[in-house]
Amino acid sequence: MTDTSYLFDTGSDLGAAQMDHLAAMLDAATFGMLTPIGIQSGWRCLDVGAGGGSVARWLADQVGPDGEVLAVDLDTAQLHSQPGVDPVAHDINDGLPGHLAGPYDLIHTRLTLMHLPRREEILALLADSLAPGGWLVVGDVTDRPRRVLSAVSAEDLAVWERIQHLSHRVVGPAGGLDVDWAHRIDDRMVAAGLTEIHGIETSQTVTGGSPGMLLHLSLNKQAYHLLVAAGATAAQLERYQELCRDPQLRTWFYQFLCVRGRRPR
Ligand SMILES: C[S@@+](CC[C@H](N)C(=O)[O-])C[C@H]1O[C@@H](n2cnc3c(N)ncnc32)[C@H](O)[C@@H]1O
Repeated sequence: MTDTSYLFDTGSDLGAAQMDHLAAMLDAATFGMLTPIGIQSGWRCLDVGAGGGSVARWLADQVGPDGEVLAVDLDTAQLHSQPGVDPVAHDINDGLPGHLAGPYDLIHTRLTLMHLPRREEILALLADSLAPGGWLVVGDVTDRPRRVLSAVSAEDLAVWERIQHLSHRVVGPAGGLDVDWAHRIDDRMVAAGLTEIHGIETSQTVTGGSPGMLLHLSLNKQAYHLLVAAGATAAQLERYQELCRDPQLRTWFYQFLCVRGRRPR
């Protein structure tokens, strides 16, 4: 496994759908964590692993034309033509060199550090790249099971749980994913010397065919061959994908944990 072994294809149509569904599911909670910071016109911001750019666009609205929002991603295909957002194709494993160097008034990163084996070192780098008084906001999902809530057959329950397990505990970790990391963000912010640390955990229930389930569907299609290699059968994957579209299925969505911390003035 290399540092850049990201599991999904951000620039693909499935990647675009993934970003849309993430925005639908998580932007409200993220904006709820960003708003109390009181982002000012003219601030310099960085979004690491900006994906479809929904958070970068929101930041651009806050900082206005005198501010700057750099949106860094391995693949900037989904970031073109977004007013006020400066897309930068870059691997964050290579640090923040040249025009990406701090200081920043605000750095945000969502569902990105959990994919990076050097996540703790990178969080420390991001904290060091803040201006005095600047904010770091980190969101990732936790290991809480995506528990089935509706009455489904024993066979369907077994398919759901097996594919979820293979995705998050076999295929994901082999590609660098750590769904236990989110619980360590607070501790790593303390170690990085940040203050005013505050976190939230949030989740919701989702039904087949809704954005949360269509996110699972997109991830499953992108990881299809890896899941087969991990032991999933074609029949199990076909049924899992049907379940993701089936309004009869209702489960918990991912638990999202988001933490902000501030560099002392
Ligand atoms: C799960 S997506 C999250 C996208 C967005 N932050 C959101 O929450 O909607 C992870 C993003 O991180 C990007 N990414 C993965 N590894 C990266 C790396 N080493 N450097 C920069 N971006 C990376 C991916 O291309 C993808 O856009």
